[in-house]
Amino acid sequence: MLILSALLAALVGDLVVAQDSDYGSSPPVYPSPGTQGIGWEAAFARAEAFVANLTADEKAQLVTGTSGPCVGNIGAIPRLGFNGLCLQDGPLAIRQATYASVFPAGLTTAASWDRGLMNLRGIYLGAEFKGKGAHVALGPVVAPLGRAAYGGRNWEGFSPDPYLTGVAAEETIMGMQQSGIQACLKHFIGYEQETQRNPSLSPDNVTIESVSSNIDDRTLHELYLWPFANGVKAGVASIMCSYNRINGSYACQNSKTQNGLLKGELGFQGYVMSDWGGTHSGVASINAGLDMDMPGPLSFGGDQNSSFFGGNVTSAVNNGSVSETRVNDMIMRIMTPYFFLQQDEYPPIDGEEPALNSNFPPYDYQFTLGASNVDVRDDHNQLIRELGSAGTVLLKNVGNTLPLKAPKTMGVFGNDAGDVVDGLYFSGAAFQNQYGYEYGTLPVAGGSGTGRLSYLVSPLEAIKTRAAQDGTLVQYILNNTLLSTEGPSGFSSAILPVPQVCLVFLKTWASEGYDRVGLEADWNSTGVVESVASYCNNTVVITHSGGLNVMPWADNPNVTAILAAHLPGEESGNSIVDILYGAVNPSGKLPYTIALNASDYNFAPITNSTALVETEDPNAWQSNFTEGLLIDYRHFDYYNQSVAFEFGFGLSYTTFDMSGIGVTSSGVAGGGTGWGANNTGVTSTPPSTNTSSPGGNPALWETLYTVNVTVANTGGVAGAAVPQLYVSLPQVPDGDPTPVNVLRGFDKIMLQPGQSQSIGFDLARRDLSYWDTNAQQWTIPSGPIGLNAGFSSRDFRQTSQITVVS
Ligand SMILES: *[C@@H]1O[C@H](CO)[C@@H](O)[C@H](O)[C@H]1NC(C)=O
Ligand SMILES: *[C@@H]1O[C@H](CO)[C@@H](O)[C@H](O)[C@H]1NC(C)=O
Ligand SMILES: *[C@@H]1O[C@H](CO)[C@@H](O)[C@H](O)[C@H]1NC(C)=O
Ligand SMILES: *[C@@H]1O[C@H](CO)[C@@H](O)[C@H](O)[C@H]1NC(C)=O
Ligand SMILES: *[C@@H]1O[C@H](CO)[C@@H](O)[C@H](O)[C@H]1NC(C)=O
Ligand SMILES: *[C@@H]1O[C@H](CO)[C@@H](O)[C@H](O)[C@H]1NC(C)=O
Ligand SMILES: *[C@@H]1O[C@H](CO)[C@@H](O)[C@H](O)[C@H]1NC(C)=O
Ligand SMILES: *[C@@H]1O[C@H](CO)[C@@H](O)[C@H](O)[C@H]1NC(C)=O
Ligand SMILES: *[C@@H]1O[C@H](CO)[C@@H](O)[C@H](O)[C@H]1NC(C)=O
Ligand SMILES: *[C@@H]1O[C@H](CO)[C@@H](O)[C@H](O)[C@H]1NC(C)=O
Ligand SMILES: *[C@@H]1O[C@H](CO)[C@@H](O)[C@H](O)[C@H]1NC(C)=O
Ligand SMILES: *[C@@H]1O[C@H](CO)[C@@H](O)[C@H](O)[C@H]1NC(C)=O
Repeated sequence: MLILSALLAALVGDLVVAQDSDYGSSPPVYPSPGTQGIGWEAAFARAEAFVANLTADEKAQLVTGTSGPCVGNIGAIPRLGFNGLCLQDGPLAIRQATYASVFPAGLTTAASWDRGLMNLRGIYLGAEFKGKGAHVALGPVVAPLGRAAYGGRNWEGFSPDPYLTGVAAEETIMGMQQSGIQACLKHFIGYEQETQRNPSLSPDNVTIESVSSNIDDRTLHELYLWPFANGVKAGVASIMCSYNRINGSYACQNSKTQNGLLKGELGFQGYVMSDWGGTHSGVASINAGLDMDMPGPLSFGGDQNSSFFGGNVTSAVNNGSVSETRVNDMIMRIMTPYFFLQQDEYPPIDGEEPALNSNFPPYDYQFTLGASNVDVRDDHNQLIRELGSAGTVLLKNVGNTLPLKAPKTMGVFGNDAGDVVDGLYFSGAAFQNQYGYEYGTLPVAGGSGTGRLSYLVSPLEAIKTRAAQDGTLVQYILNNTLLSTEGPSGFSSAILPVPQVCLVFLKTWASEGYDRVGLEADWNSTGVVESVASYCNNTVVITHSGGLNVMPWADNPNVTAILAAHLPGEESGNSIVDILYGAVNPSGKLPYTIALNASDYNFAPITNSTALVETEDPNAWQSNFTEGLLIDYRHFDYYNQSVAFEFGFGLSYTTFDMSGIGVTSSGVAGGGTGWGANNTGVTSTPPSTNTSSPGGNPALWETLYTVNVTVANTGGVAGAAVPQLYVSLPQVPDGDPTPVNVLRGFDKIMLQPGQSQSIGFDLARRDLSYWDTNAQQWTIPSGPIGLNAGFSSRDFRQTSQITVVS
């Protein structure tokens, strides 16, 4: 959602329904499939009784946002005991709230490759939202997926790999909803850049429409829709449609994506809400599958009585342009998850919220407010500290530089090491530009996905505390300009003697509303590293970053260790100290590829140019996803291109080995089961079903094979390994190159020195299929399928092959 007031102006004005782009168009898919409450049957019956009592005006009210104490609000209906709905940002914290935790970002969570921690983070997030009286949490994020390395919001989501993102999303959703809140999976779909995400006005006041993501059918299924399928299968209550257009049609009124893919093919039973200001029509959006308009008025903070929904819904039913069945379905979709999660008995909204949420004017509805400043943090900081470490990736460690062994002297450098100086809320005025602020560590990034810190442990603070145990002399310079421009001669007199180890902390700001303009860390980071390394031959670089970084200094022989610490949240300093000193053995793995040069990512660019910025053509902003399936490691592998650090890579303080690959067929098709057996009788396409089921055809989720390997800790200390399984599908004759390898399994296991363990990766039908555009079906390709198990996308230790369909 959009919170930066500078951007709001873009939304005001005449919003014109887009025409089809010249790239493709979105085929019409009507009518909008109705929910049957699959999996939520008892709640569905309660919702039916509730809907039966509603007046036409109340129906309109239930689907239209209004002003209130929360970021999004649905007004109460006291006569039916309905207290309304409170919707709050965001994916890593209840954003604006006081006395709430700030968790590691999605990116950090993905880098942990730890299902258990992903799930626990979801449970705790859910508990905090519920404790504050929020019914709906606006997260998790799976779009942006991270097509463009420069994307400003990639850190809110998980990984450009859809399998890893799908697992992270489902664990998060199940955790959040287990705590009784509704998750809102966002942003549906193809939302891969900030630039021109919303319409703008040209100098001549022509409305220039949002960027159109033009995506072919196979790519949409295998990359961008994939994690949404996991979320729907996990029972997500709501999904937010995005700001961009898809094939020329706005996401919130695209009948192909909403009616066809989401509610049809994936069998989504919950409701679709618009991103804030993402609604561009009433009737067209409703018939195309949009169920709830947020924040409600035509413009932010605008007239409550003027909305694309609201009174227009009632008149559309009266004049027959929207059926009453459709309106009832919208409400059934909204109320069924509410009853399923027993939200009719719920904590009141924290009394502080109206003051915190100053974006919105006074409101008409009576919302039930409770005590102010309720402390919902509990002991969640233990998980935050653990996940901050678990999502830190050790990229280089020459000569066992790390873990530190009671050094006598240590230097700490860089403007990311110390405490913040511009406040603890990373959405304030100081943060509303592309570069953020100069001094202070970066625990989270900016926009609606940020959080208000209740405290922050900075790296320097935690290092001082830990170093005191060894009597280590800790000296520091945090001024990047001084470090980079003056060089060692300028600062070495301030740090004497030359430290045994020098820690350089770098940061990279990113925020909703802007795409990044570079991929190196900010504030002359390369100059800082080179300067410190020219004087200190044992330099350890730590990055805190709202996305991936290229690291031109990675091969500098004096840079002896590198840690990508991502966005760790409030326990930042403790999380990194645990790694630096070996209290925690690093086990994070890259959820993206670090290329050698920034230009290596040009295959998936942000669409932007002076001509587009100056255009008078409403449809000028077109982003053709011509790279198809080949994003991130799929690109680098297909073109056999060298990279600095590959997807899935990360070092440990111990070593691991892998042996004994074996494949078992499940025999679901009636074929033989057992070690090495082929699953004879499996058809290339799944049996068709008449019933839609959340997540799509249930046969897609059936395990066809299990691949086992044995992993051993061959080093001297305990540590967690992340064995990974990649599947190599044959090329298919449809023009779109098939990636060489795709991730289809991973696990994280703790092993003592000398210990070994057998791991099983279940391969579902979907994992072995591609999207066949002719058959309009997931299809297992004929011919041999390679199975590659190892410790990264380029470190295979065990391989095998199956032929599922000959
Ligand atoms: C996008 O693709 C369409 C159809 O192939 C083409 O006409 C258009 O020029 C492309 N746009 C850009 C910006 O490449
Ligand atoms: C977008 O257009 C492409 C190319 O014509 C087509 O393959 C795809 O199915 C379309 N997708 C949607 C959602 O309209
Ligand atoms: C709706 O009205 C029916 C009777 O018409 C009643 O049994 C039911 O409890 C009411 N439902 C709600 C949610 O008020
Ligand atoms: C564009 O609209 C603004 C606000 O209504 C107005 O002040 C301005 O003169 C208009 N510009 C042109 C070129 O019409
Ligand atoms: C209905 O929608 C139009 C825009 O299409 C808007 O101008 C009007 O104010 C809306 N009416 C109500 C009652 O919200
Ligand atoms: C940082 O160092 C530069 C160069 O020495 C200096 O001009 C600047 O004032 C310093 N900044 C602060 C905040 O001390
Ligand atoms: C960046 O660092 C380089 C040294 O590597 C230095 O020459 C340059 O002046 C620095 N730039 C800024 C803006 O501090
Ligand atoms: C590495 O550090 C030594 C000082 O120990 C220095 O002499 C040398 O120039 C440095 N090398 C690089 C590449 O910075
Ligand atoms: C690294 O620097 C230290 C301290 O300046 C020095 O004693 C040591 O010899 C250097 N090592 C190498 C390999 O240059
Ligand atoms: C987009 O292009 C315009 C004009 O070339 C430029 O001013 C702006 O900085 C660009 N934005 C990004 C995020 O690159
Ligand atoms: C399974 O099929 C492969 C050919 O794809 C064959 O080499 C192998 O022997 C078969 N395994 C069994 C147990 O039948
Ligand atoms: C595969 O690994 C799982 C544990 O993940 C284990 O339960 C199963 O027995 C193993 N299968 C074989 C054939 O080793």
